Amino acid sequence: MVDREHVQMLPKPPVSKWQAEVNGLKSEILVESNAILLDVLRDKVGTLGVKRGCDMGTCGCCSVLVDGEPRLSCLMLAEEARGRSITTVEGLADGHHLHPIQTCFAEAGGSQCGFCTPGFLVVCSALLEENPEPNKNEIKDAIEGNLCRCTGYQQIVEAVEMAAEIKRSDESPSNLTTPSSDPHPVGPDEPSLPPGDAR
Ligand code: FES
Ligand code: FES
Repeated sequence: MVDREHVQMLPKPPVSKWQAEVNGLKSEILVESNAILLDVLRDKVGTLGVKRGCDMGTCGCCSVLVDGEPRLSCLMLAEEARGRSITTVEGLADGHHLHPIQTCFAEAGGSQCGFCTPGFLVVCSALLEENPEPNKNEIKDAIEGNLCRCTGYQQIVEAVEMAAEIKRSDESPSNLTTPSSDPHPVGPDEPSLPPGDAR
């Protein structure tokens, strides 16, 4: 049998060490110079909450925050995010405390099949950071790049309005120590619980 030499059509892209902070944790991995951020996050970092919808910049399912700004990870080279802070849907909750936008999506029916939800959640969380009291038009503008086939959007807009209200009351000086957005504020492994009192 003839041993054929495999000739590559394109030279392999160089591989280098890539690092970024993903959901508050330092991530250091080897990536190819042309790697797409979506692939790196899903396949190497393991943040599977970042969804691949269209893979061409039209659905918003792959949205993540890069230094707090919503970005489509399917259209971004990992190289562009090198050394930056990346937040995926997994990074929105604060320990046991869900982000108000997560609670309100569940309560208002803003999530049905759920495939689009991670993208909406990160985009809406960024909106609430920037604008604590968005009106309906501002909410619609913020989510215009995110497609949902299930909800009809009305429940999503309502969820953002509810979350904005909760966030404002959580951040009011009289309420800073009791996160009211989480229906189960004490988790089973909360260190403040006496032994044997895990719920
Ligand atoms: S997967 Fe990125 S916009 Fe659709
Ligand atoms: S909840 Fe199904 S696509 Fe949005």
